Amino acid sequence: MSSQGIFITLEGGEGSGKSTQIKTLAAFLQDKGHDVILTREPGGTPEAEKIRELLVNRDGGDWTPMAETLLFFAARAMHIETLIKPALAEGKIVICDRFTDSTRAYQSYGHGLDPDIIESYVQLAIAGFEPDLTFILDIDAAAGLERAGRRNTDADSTEDRFEQMQIDFHERLRQGFLEIAARNPERCVIIDAQQSIDEIAAQIGDAALERISNV
Ligand code: TMP
Repeated sequence: MSSQGIFITLEGGEGSGKSTQIKTLAAFLQDKGHDVILTREPGGTPEAEKIRELLVNRDGGDWTPMAETLLFFAARAMHIETLIKPALAEGKIVICDRFTDSTRAYQSYGHGLDPDIIESYVQLAIAGFEPDLTFILDIDAAAGLERAGRRNTDADSTEDRFEQMQIDFHERLRQGFLEIAARNPERCVIIDAQQSIDEIAAQIGDAALERISNV
């Protein structure tokens, strides 16, 4: 691998199996001898994790799409400058659970914020910084919500503000992720998240290795 690392993101709607797959990918790349950092958005640094509490907890506040977008970018700016870029400079592979594509999907396709506003924040707040490789875990909205619902009941989680939203919201999200992938074919790989866990892991692992070997 070159001295500059690689930034990989996983994206998808609720119940797409992202959390399982991200851990599997990290372990797979570590087994191959890579130095891997696993992180998430919103969050990843102490400051950004504080913003996460405001955004995803049920009692964190009722944010307008514009206000929450600013919070996501505030968290992201810290995350990039203090964790992601330094790790990449050391040649590490950084794997992140969600990134700007989630803002595009949730805040714009989901909540109707003008997409140009989001792109202007990408330039203004994070200087156009984008992942090298993005996996979009695509799942039918109803199937994903059913899985997410089961998980939250099991874990008694309080991080469910976004999962409470209606099915049409989740259908718009799915459409959004697919359109983002279509606009960025060199960066995005769509994965059918209704396959078995092992099949999904194999596809993600193969595509990641191929990209790493081409750097
Ligand atoms: P998670 O459940 O995958 O940890 O993500 C937390 C929630 O935050 C999830 O419902 C998606 C939402 N989110 C956005 O709305 N915009 C964003 O930019 C990010 C990163 C997450």
